[in-house]
Amino acid sequence: MADLDDIDEVKKAGKNFHEDIPQEKNGFFLKGSANYDWGMKNRLSSIFNPVSGNTLMLAFDHGYFQGPTTGLERIDVNVLPLEPYCDTLMLTRGILRSLVPGSTQRSIAMRATGGPSILRELSNEIIACDMEDAVRMNASCLAVQVYIGGEYETQTIHNLTRLVDLGLRYGVPVMAVTAVGKDMARDAKYFRLAARICAELGAQIVKTYYTAEDFRTITSSCPVPIVIAGGKKIPELDALTMARNALDQGANGVDMGRNIFQSDNPVAMIQAVRKVVHENASPAEGLAFYNDLVAGKA
Ligand code: 5RP
Repeated sequence: MADLDDIDEVKKAGKNFHEDIPQEKNGFFLKGSANYDWGMKNRLSSIFNPVSGNTLMLAFDHGYFQGPTTGLERIDVNVLPLEPYCDTLMLTRGILRSLVPGSTQRSIAMRATGGPSILRELSNEIIACDMEDAVRMNASCLAVQVYIGGEYETQTIHNLTRLVDLGLRYGVPVMAVTAVGKDMARDAKYFRLAARICAELGAQIVKTYYTAEDFRTITSSCPVPIVIAGGKKIPELDALTMARNALDQGANGVDMGRNIFQSDNPVAMIQAVRKVVHENASPAEGLAFYNDLVAGKA
């Protein structure tokens, strides 16, 4: 009964995303999360701020497949100064144990899959972190790459479902990172499909990219919180605008890397992103704050 025509439908007859009706929260501040056990809710609350409902995750796990990425050559020098301004550090266990002080008050999103380097077929990932070790590191969630449409699609789905099973046992949420396969467009059609599959298979958080068109159809048809990746470095105002648009269209935060750590002034940029994510600032207000910080006025 596979129906390829069905995934094309956006606003045509027969499909209705009810984009104007927010999903009922049923007593817990986070969408789709009311029925979890206490430990999982508590971990989610250390990622998503219960007041704003949003999160600012700082993503710097890129080295797990592409080595010392620009801006991440020295995580102790370049990234640790950003730590006070985010809610969650998204990283690998190697970097956590070698460079991040155990005294950090930030929650941890632990990269839990890997395998191929950037020189190989990226979708050929396997589970790369044991759940027991994740609990030992006090991880608040595990990040799992899922390649819908990719060569090793089923294997990456199996990584997700295996870690969801273990996460439910230990109270650790799993964030499915929808990774775009070689031939897939980064559009709403793709992310609606990928995000919904990940949520249906048990992911408690889904990470996608922002799409300029129909982003709300992705968030409204995904029953659990969505955070957006930042993607390649773009001008500061454009990155703040992307974050604002995503939040206004139902995302619960950002999991941003290059647009923060590759900024001309990463410490100022992360604080500007924070204003947008937690203080409902407009992109212009965020940029003005960035400029004031750069000029030493704020
Ligand atoms: C790697 C990831 C990255 O963490 C993600 O892409 C976020 O970083 P950026 O904002 O630089 O895109 O999931 O696969």
